[in-house]
Amino acid sequence: MTAFPVQRLRRLRGTPALRRLVAEHDLSPRRLVLPLFVKEAITAAQPIASMPGVMQYPIEQLAEVVEQAAAAGIGGIMLFGVPTVRDAVGSGATDPDGILNRAIAVAARAASGRLTVQADLCLDEFTDHGHCGVLANDGSVDNDASLEIYARVAVAQAEAGADILGLSGMMDGQVAACRAALDAVGRSDVALLAYSAKYASAFYGPFRDAVESTLTGDRRTYQLDPANGREGVREARADIDEGADIVMVKPAGPYLDVLAEVVAASEVPVWAYQVSGEYAMVEHAAAAGVIDRERAIGEALLGIRRAGAEAILTYWAIEVAGWLRDGRSLA
Ligand code: PBG
Repeated sequence: MTAFPVQRLRRLRGTPALRRLVAEHDLSPRRLVLPLFVKEAITAAQPIASMPGVMQYPIEQLAEVVEQAAAAGIGGIMLFGVPTVRDAVGSGATDPDGILNRAIAVAARAASGRLTVQADLCLDEFTDHGHCGVLANDGSVDNDASLEIYARVAVAQAEAGADILGLSGMMDGQVAACRAALDAVGRSDVALLAYSAKYASAFYGPFRDAVESTLTGDRRTYQLDPANGREGVREARADIDEGADIVMVKPAGPYLDVLAEVVAASEVPVWAYQVSGEYAMVEHAAAAGVIDRERAIGEALLGIRRAGAEAILTYWAIEVAGWLRDGRSLA
């Protein structure tokens, strides 16, 4: 007689109601953070060709976008500034009148506590050479000189009204430097999100369009080597020791193993950044008719959540929050 299987895993997959009940993971709008690009000296929102559906906003339109984000119930926004003038030391990042600091103030006012206002703390949008730090005479990126500037940027962003500062520059010691600077001016309330395991990735390509990056060359002397997993965990541990309130892995999709290991090793919240290239791949493939756009978005996000991310930075934040509110499942 044929031995019929006793273990029937299909049993719980038979109907949508069963599948919904036994789903191990899901998402909610509060776990989504929307990156936003605010560009100086434009009067209308401008599309970003490499990221269909994503815009650069004039500061005048920011309050309206924050309103939409708050209405969608998402957890926060991450602001990036696109200045008109750049220089060797990224002066626009420390200037209270710099585009990013002005944007933080506008967003904080518009949000009025309904979502968190987060700001990218890095120099690459503000330097004429496009590196995340300042350069030494030999052209290398000077870690410790950059830390002194980061410390001033941290204070400027805190004064502008940011709730969380996103340390994305990958300089050693950046968390400790910014924490000390903030505490010294009485801003122990401002939280630090460390982009701990930030890999030197081709998936940032469309972002560099979005911020009109001037970089030539690459960031391999400070961002992580994609070949290294354990080192990503070590970076996260180091940042936690320095006082990071939240650690992050970036990009998300190609680094889910690192994400899961950081989650296992971390006592602070762990987030992931689904970056511009991850977004662009799905949008362009969907536009070409070769992939089901909404299912692909849902599956990519669910994978990041399943690997353990407690919040996800994603350019789809508002749209997906809408799906979740309508009670749709992601996969
Ligand atoms: C650096 C920064 C980058 C991204 C976020 N912060 C670019 C880089 O390191 O080259 C990339 C985000 C994305 O690709 O969506 N300020």
